Amino acid sequence: SSGLPGPTRHADFGSIEDSDLSTFERIIGKDYVKTSDIETFNKDWMGWYKGTGKCVLLPGSTDEVSAILKHCYERRLAVVPQSGNTGLVGASIPVFDEIVLSLKRINKHFDLDPSSGVLEVDAGFILEEIDQKLAADGYMVPLDLGSKASCLIGGNVATCAGGVRLLRYGSMHSNVLGLDVVLPDASGSVLKLGAALRKDNTSIHAHHVFIGSEGQLGIVTRVRLLVAPRPTSVHSALLGLESFDKVRQLLRAAKTDLSEILSSFELLDAETMRCVKENTGLSSALSSQPPFTVLIETSGSNSDHDTAKFEAFLEKCIENGLASDGVIAESATEANYFWKLREMATLSLLKDGFIYKNDISLPLEHFYKITEVLRERLGEDVIRVICYGHVGDGNAHINITSKEYSQELYDRIYPFLYEWVANHGGSISAEHGIGRLKKPYAHLGKESTELELNTRLKHFFDPRGILNPYKFFPKV
Ligand code: FAD
Ligand code: MLT
Ligand code: ZN
Repeated sequence: SSGLPGPTRHADFGSIEDSDLSTFERIIGKDYVKTSDIETFNKDWMGWYKGTGKCVLLPGSTDEVSAILKHCYERRLAVVPQSGNTGLVGASIPVFDEIVLSLKRINKHFDLDPSSGVLEVDAGFILEEIDQKLAADGYMVPLDLGSKASCLIGGNVATCAGGVRLLRYGSMHSNVLGLDVVLPDASGSVLKLGAALRKDNTSIHAHHVFIGSEGQLGIVTRVRLLVAPRPTSVHSALLGLESFDKVRQLLRAAKTDLSEILSSFELLDAETMRCVKENTGLSSALSSQPPFTVLIETSGSNSDHDTAKFEAFLEKCIENGLASDGVIAESATEANYFWKLREMATLSLLKDGFIYKNDISLPLEHFYKITEVLRERLGEDVIRVICYGHVGDGNAHINITSKEYSQELYDRIYPFLYEWVANHGGSISAEHGIGRLKKPYAHLGKESTELELNTRLKHFFDPRGILNPYKFFPKV
């Protein structure tokens, strides 16, 4: 692996024996217990980490997950839940010989109530597939990520995924109404939490504890989700801006003027555009090369109304000098191109070599400053420092690249960067999570009482600490 900090195997965990494999075969069938050709389950999307897991289980139902966890509890076998394996903090793969429990086959139940917009869906459905199925009834999933063709809805819940439309539709906490969760306890308890209802104050809403718990408290097998009406009128534009201060002013103006139809406000700085161009050949649709490019999107239901509102807003921004350049998508193809530029920000970096990936929240007054501070600090020793992301949500993706992993560079970036973020009222993980990557820094900016509560919750739900060990939550 890369040389990023690593743990040692817990001595009290069992090791898989032939009798365990026979038990698993009895529970889910021989075809779904894999012990060969499992390399892809042991590698994270970034290529930072490599696990040495020896067994992958592919259960087909909640009951099968329950029987597996019951057995793992008895034998103290550690387990990593894995969905699309697109996570960006090394949380979805084994560290040592943990069993990979893949959710991919739990993808049968799909039940939409078209009048309420409440969907009950198995955790193993691919996000994009859910969206396509919803389109037939005029709905869409309320979250959208660059990884939508691979990530599964259960993985989205477990990571509390954000994405490019959170400023309009809210977080997973706003949209998840209930969950089915299996616990790694003596009976493989199945919890049915929340309801397929928008309002239900008959309980403590315990499903929220599992949203963003990164597969360390329980395994999500079914999701009750509030889905959004599919907009029939969507408009997009790229705007060029000369300073970050103007980006802040533009955001304020977009919230006020576009108000209920504003659905995205994404940032790409000039270094990001350069990276996309150099590594993929794609050029910006803007005629100039401004320091900042913002991708704005509106979503509504009345094209005349939305067009008038959007065009008036864009004209005003050019006239008052907020934007120095702008281009409106004249077709869906052009809009897709704008989004491709944004999505390529992530993919284009891979060509540089090693990526020191960061996903931070900051108050907007400090949002861009740290990118400049890092450029100054790291100078010519890196290929680039780029900043893009969900500026509408105060979420910056600052990515630093070098040809290969360098411990010396790592030590110059961390903990400096995360301490800077914590000292400026930010969060070291806005949406990707803590996982293995950020575990050494998870305490920054947190009260000890909150960290203690995490430990108590871990102990409560996972008494033997077998679920996704060595990551975010401490061992019990
Ligand atoms: P995995 O990667 O398989 O798992 C992620 C974590 O959840 C692991 O800890 C795993 O153990 C746990 N887990 C998985 N399934 C379950 C389950 N059913 N029950 C309990 N625990 C489970 N993230 C964002 O937030 N916003 C973005 O805009 C975004 N864009 C991305 C773009 C690209 C190109 C890529 C590669 C990733 C992006 N991500 C983004 C990160 C990633 O896609 C999300 O974190 C996603 O929600 C992970 O889903 P997954 O199905 O791949 O889960
Ligand atoms: C994004 O917004 O593109 C994703 O979170 C992935 C990334 O940080 O590159
Ligand atoms: Zn993101």
